[in-house]
Amino acid sequence: MKATARAFTNIALIKYWGKRNESLFLPMNSSLSITLDKFYTTTSVQFCECLTKDVVFLNHSLMDEKETRKITSFLDRLREISGKRVNAIVNTMNKVPISAGLASSASGFAALAAAAAKAMNLNLDKKGLSQLARQGSGSACRSIYGGYVEWQRGEMEDGTDSYASPIMDGQDWNLSILSVILSSEPKKVSSRDGMKRTVESSPFYSNWVAEAEKDLQTAKNAISKRDFEMLGKVVEANALKMHATTLGADPPFMYWQGTTYHVMQKVQELRQSGIQAYFTIDAGPNVKILCQPEDEQYIRKEMLDLPFVQDVHLCHPGPGVTYLSNSK
Ligand code: PMV
Repeated sequence: MKATARAFTNIALIKYWGKRNESLFLPMNSSLSITLDKFYTTTSVQFCECLTKDVVFLNHSLMDEKETRKITSFLDRLREISGKRVNAIVNTMNKVPISAGLASSASGFAALAAAAAKAMNLNLDKKGLSQLARQGSGSACRSIYGGYVEWQRGEMEDGTDSYASPIMDGQDWNLSILSVILSSEPKKVSSRDGMKRTVESSPFYSNWVAEAEKDLQTAKNAISKRDFEMLGKVVEANALKMHATTLGADPPFMYWQGTTYHVMQKVQELRQSGIQAYFTIDAGPNVKILCQPEDEQYIRKEMLDLPFVQDVHLCHPGPGVTYLSNSK
């Protein structure tokens, strides 16, 4: 009853922002992402009758009670499905530096879902794994697949039609994603709390849902035509619309810092000078830049030349979840 799985982080091109069901992690809108090739989580899970509770290690250190509770409630879903009341020892290695500005919860819950399902002999296909990973962290459902991935919100209230599916292989269109690090401090408003507050109080929220569905169609069209300008424009506009909803929340909040705005302006300047680059921003101050491989080194250098930029990580489309032999 032991299995090990590895999953990579993903970056949303069209954002998931807001839940219609908090406990099942059902989103208000569909979203679209690229799974990245650089940062990943490797997790092994072993169920044993010998354990009186779940024991979780993160990068070789025992996790605190609060964090362990999140893993335990996720594993409870598997125990419910299988009918087996057995505890687990979970070993997680995160190759997602905190400073990477990328969410480790996506790769973390994708790897945990895959390893735990296999260790439980649940025989879930990728669709089943995606549904399961979603219930740990919404964006994790997209990290089950590599390349370009869509998460359909679904219509059912039990979540059975809310899962991710691949729309195109990463090799079929190699784009570059630069993660520009401006701050590695933990964010003040988590994505979970930020979404909740926005859904409950922002008057801009209903427009967001309608816009995100339109933006998704434009992005899918751009991907199918490999039209970089069309994709870049909609990606940048979609991120701005998501962040606009937070300004209308009560109390209002924003994830940007002054330096975030500087980088956004720099990207727009690059475009004026003829370089195709577009930005996107998640629930934090760091900026991700979407560009084509022929421009990646030039843009990376331009960013590193800004005095407040701490680091720039260069990523490309990466693979979906994989199982490793247990000796690794
Ligand atoms: O899955 P969560 O709770 O980490 O939320 C992700 C939210 C965004 O990163 C802002 C958007 C997205 O689609 O990944």
